[in-house]
Amino acid sequence: MKTIVLACGCFWGAQHFFSRVDGVNKTECGYANGNSSEAPSYEQVYTDKTGFAEAVRLEYDPRRISLEGLLELFFCIIDPLSLNRQGEDVGTRYRTGVYYLDEADRAVAESVFAAKAKELGVVWSGSAAARGAAVGSAASGSAAMAVELEHLRNFFPAEEYHQDYLEKTPGGYCHIPLRTFTYLRLWQDMRLMLEGETDMIAKMANCCALIQERMGFFWTGFYIVRDRELVLGPFQGPSACFRIAYGRGVCGSAWEQGRTLVVPDVEQFPGHIACSSLSRSEIVVPVRRGGEIFAVLDIDSTRLAEFDATDALWLGKIAALAAN
Ligand code: SME
Repeated sequence: MKTIVLACGCFWGAQHFFSRVDGVNKTECGYANGNSSEAPSYEQVYTDKTGFAEAVRLEYDPRRISLEGLLELFFCIIDPLSLNRQGEDVGTRYRTGVYYLDEADRAVAESVFAAKAKELGVVWSGSAAARGAAVGSAASGSAAMAVELEHLRNFFPAEEYHQDYLEKTPGGYCHIPLRTFTYLRLWQDMRLMLEGETDMIAKMANCCALIQERMGFFWTGFYIVRDRELVLGPFQGPSACFRIAYGRGVCGSAWEQGRTLVVPDVEQFPGHIACSSLSRSEIVVPVRRGGEIFAVLDIDSTRLAEFDATDALWLGKIAALAAN
């Protein structure tokens, strides 16, 4: 069993998330890397003068999940560019950080941090970015990664009422978008389901089925690149158009632009291809193999503005499972 302490903003949602991660055996909310050697109270931490960060202590089985795997999930629930602020929670106590006990974990975390910074096109200096910085000074985002990476200096368990708060308080405050928890389960189950299968069409077929089953969208399917066209692949939902040209419709545009497109209102998207008049909003995620786009995952909803950045993030991870 190994231990790592992660600060992700308010610890209620973070514990709710990590307690659902396969391979994590125990989670505990607490206060990390503060200035005192005595346990602080929540009220003291709340003054923002103690130096403590709200954090979750994880005990995990490294045979079931690696530190890299945990940190990838950590980056799924934080805004790494936001300094001393996550969601509506502002203060140094809500800074983000990775606090390791084992010196060997530092190198692992450094490589994950460096890869993340590169992906975001920002700087990561390797220093304690958030500590002591002015609260809210970079609330709207900065050009540097605001996540700390430090040795764990201290950790005090939070009061009992903070432990498993969202289990005890359904509908309680959570700064993490609620769909995240459904997607985490879906992504983990998808990974298990697809494991060992090598046929791409078969994987895409069950990928669509599981997304539909869990999320209840209107239409979920893959279009596969064939020459200069997208051709209909495995899908769930009403019959759909067979072929979409490069650069045409939402699917062809996502392929051309090489990025996920979130369309809150299909009627406002020039050139949208209406396979069904019931579709009101849409998301299209390019699927890559070896850097090349070879398919897109297309999902339609009968509701306006069904999709946002949370869907884009998790559907990207899910589609990648079908492709690799
Ligand atoms: N609306 C898509 C076409 C495919 S259907 O949504 C299934 C588009 O504009 O590319």
